[in-house]
Order: sequence, then C-alpha cells, then structure tokens
Amino acid sequence: MYWVESTERCITQNENAASGMMKKISDINKMGATHNLATPADALVIFGVTGDLAHKMIFPALYAMVKRGNLNVPIVGVASSKWSLAQLRKRARDSIKQAGKIDDRDALDHLLSLFRYVAGDYNDPATFTALRQTLADAGRPAHYLAIPPALFATVIKGLAAEGLTDQARVIVEKPFGRDLASARELNRIALSAFAEDAIFRIDHYLGKEAIMNILYFRFANSFLEPIWNRNSVASVQITLAEDFGVNGRGAFYENAGCLRDVIQNHLFQIIALLAMEPPAFQGYAAVHNEKAKVFQAMRPVRPDDMVCGQYAGYRNETGVAKKSDVETFCALRLFIDSWRWEGVPWYLRAGKCMAATAAEVLVELKPPPQRLFDDSAPVHGRANYLRFRLSPSSAVAIAARVKRAGKEFVGDQHELYLLDEQSGEQSPYERLLSDAMAGDGALFTREDAVEAAWAVLDPVLDIPRPIYPYKPGSWGPKQADALIAADGSWHNPILEKEKK
Ligand code: BG6
Repeated sequence: MYWVESTERCITQNENAASGMMKKISDINKMGATHNLATPADALVIFGVTGDLAHKMIFPALYAMVKRGNLNVPIVGVASSKWSLAQLRKRARDSIKQAGKIDDRDALDHLLSLFRYVAGDYNDPATFTALRQTLADAGRPAHYLAIPPALFATVIKGLAAEGLTDQARVIVEKPFGRDLASARELNRIALSAFAEDAIFRIDHYLGKEAIMNILYFRFANSFLEPIWNRNSVASVQITLAEDFGVNGRGAFYENAGCLRDVIQNHLFQIIALLAMEPPAFQGYAAVHNEKAKVFQAMRPVRPDDMVCGQYAGYRNETGVAKKSDVETFCALRLFIDSWRWEGVPWYLRAGKCMAATAAEVLVELKPPPQRLFDDSAPVHGRANYLRFRLSPSSAVAIAARVKRAGKEFVGDQHELYLLDEQSGEQSPYERLLSDAMAGDGALFTREDAVEAAWAVLDPVLDIPRPIYPYKPGSWGPKQADALIAADGSWHNPILEKEKK
C-alpha cells in the first residue's frame, strides 16, 4: 500500500498496477490535491513583465509553450511603467528574436494576441482592482512574481485583499528569502493566502534535463545503490563555474553574493538529488520528503568550512560598492549526518569570472582496499569516479582503470560515457511554467526544504570573513585548494574541446 502524504489518500498496489506505469512522478499527487490544481490555470499574470527576467527568460518560454500547444489563456502583464499594450508586444517580440529566431509566425501572433497589460503601483489597491477587471471571467489565475523578493509580500497581500487568491496559484522566483528568518516570514505570508500545493517556488535548475536525470539515473538503475554510500564514496564535489561576471546585475548581486545566488538553491538542489534516500512511493510528495530530509541532516556550516573570494574588477562593476566585500566565489565543505553519508565530505564550489562556464559533479569512490599495482590510486591520480556533467552539455561518465597493452601491469583511467545531449529539450522555464500552469509541483521546492536549506547556511551568511581576491579566468582563490586538501584536489570540469 502506498500512502500519499500530501493528499492523505491511500492507494492500494492493485489500484496502482491497474493504472499501469506512471510516466510522471507527479501523477499520484494530482489525484486528490487539497486545492483544485488538477484543472489547469485559466490565465497567467506576470508581475514585473517589463523587467529583465521577463525579457531574458519568460517571453521565450511563453513562445515555446504556444508553439507546443501548451498555452492558450490570457496573459496579463503587470508593472509600474505606463506602457501601452503595443509596447508590451514589441518588448516580447524583441525578446523572442534575441533568444533565437522566430520560426513560427502564427505562434508568435497568437502569443501576442493573448497579452493584456495593467500598469500600476503594487502598493495601490487600484492596481489589483484593475487586474481583477482585466482577468474578467478567469477564475483560476496563476500569478507569477517575476519581481524583486522585497515586493513579494506587498503583491501577495494586494492579491488577497482583492480576492484574487481563491482557486489561484502563485509562482515565486528564487531566492526565496535571504536567510532563515526572512524565508520563514515569506512562507508565512504566502501560506496565509495560498495552500502549500498552490505555491510554486521556482529553482530553474530543477527544470534542467541533466539535473532531472540525477533522480532518474539513481533510481532507475540497480547497480548504483550498493556503492552509493559512505562505504564506497570517498567524497563528492560539485562545481558551478561561470566565465563571466555579474553582467550588469551588480546591484542585485551586492544584495545576494554567491552563497545566496546559487549555492543555497541551485547547488543544494543538486546535493539533495544526489544524497536523498529512495522515495517511499511513486509520487512527488515522496521525493520532496526525501529531499527535505537531506537538508535537515546537513550539519550547519562553520566558518572554517568556507572560503570566499572576489574577482579582481568586481568593485568597478556598475551598482557595486567601491569597498564591497560581497563574495563572487565560494567554496564550502559540507557534511550530511545520515546513516548513508556519515563522514563523507561534500565540496561545493561556485563562482563568477572563472576559467570556464560549466557545472559538474564528481563522486569519487574509495580506492581498492589493497594496492596490488604500482599505478593504483590514490598514489597516482584519482580513484574511480562518477561524473555528472550538468552544463553546458549533459552527460554521465563512469571512470575505471583498464590495463595498457604490454607486459607491465599498468593502465589508464578511461571513462564510459553514458549519455549525451538529446534534441528537442524544453528549456527549464518552458518546462516549469507549463508545469505550474498545469498544477504539477514535482519540479518546485517545498517550504520545509527551503527553510532547512537556509538553516544550514544561516551561521555563515553575514559573518565577517576573509574575501580572497582572484584573477578573472582562474579557478578562484588558491585558499580554496587548502579547504579540500585533506581529501585530494578540485576537479575542474572537463571541457568538451579538451576531451576530444
Ligand atoms: C541564476 C543566478 O539563478 O542562475 C545567476 O542568479 C546565474 O547569477 C544563473 O548566472 C546560472 O544559471 P544557468 O542556467 O545559466 O546555469
């Protein structure tokens, strides 16, 4: 018998078998959600429609949704600028053109015909009255808050006061809070107006194919489980490197820094998928449960588990303080105090202006118990490992030693390359927006997990700590090498051109 926690509905195995294999882990949850999420949203409201996020990510995602036949409801843009509908349409067209070529004129025209626009101050109740009038008959809107986190509470309160939260859902961008206390407060406000399963907290990393594949690869295969624990795994490393700086987002970044911008969310989500126990049943509530437990089992980070850096030139970026001590690089050592992971160090590293743009996980296995060959690890190079390439390409590789031809027992480590890029992938924003509109919460984060993740980082978020300068184009400050030294060295993502 499977027990579906979020819906308190019991499903017998027979019932489940009768329904056949479920393709999406979210299917069970849709059977009895507390909120009417099984019926798709009948309007999409985008707060902050004139902003950067809408231009870079949202319009191209909406275009892709229309092309796939996944979007055919009114789209109401809301912002403070006194724009005309024609201006909004022009902005959307520009954005789609910039993101790639316009290859389906009919789809574009259809998308533009769905737009409406409401201009107004979020603090003014009249804005929400105008929104209600524009929504007309739509009774199940999805409100997308593509706005700075500081405005979330104002907008949620405005929606609630106008009665625009009943049967509605809300889509919230990361970062959800800026520490544990603010995340709790934000959750309190969101939950005062929406049910938990009507709150869609976006972490776009969860919509990436390569990251979804971590969950699939771990639990669709049986060979991994016997070695996926403290007995065989020596350490885990995750690197998220970008070879560009803050790209005009200096003012945003000054309030975030690397820990808040990508570690508490993107990298922690990757850890959760790598470290979680098998979900107890086939439903996304089970995945959320196990992911939350990983954060709950993480040891709060101590100052000496962290090395922060700042690239030379960051202080000259627009919007950045001349004496800024905001970290553009951060390396962390983490521990998960669970039966499976006790004693295994997890090393994370993320940074701007690094030597490459790539994200990769390296799960290093322990060397064989006896050194029978002179060239065996750890004396020579790394022990066997699994490598998850997450971006820019997507792949899984398993490294094992193979003997070289000849009399001597010496060999080399070779990679079995398991997966390559597949065509026709949805972008994360297309996937996540489609899912939120459809009421499918599988790829979003849950309140308890968000708070537990903040609790791990809370002790080091705002403490005075050294900021080591590093050269743009490097792998960060050398002090980060000392952090990992007891367990080896950093693995720099293998660039495709080097591999060939
Ligand atoms: C965003 C961060 O959430 O993720 C950015 O705010 C970062 O600073 C970006 O560059 C990385 O995402 P991706 O999909 O390009 O790896």
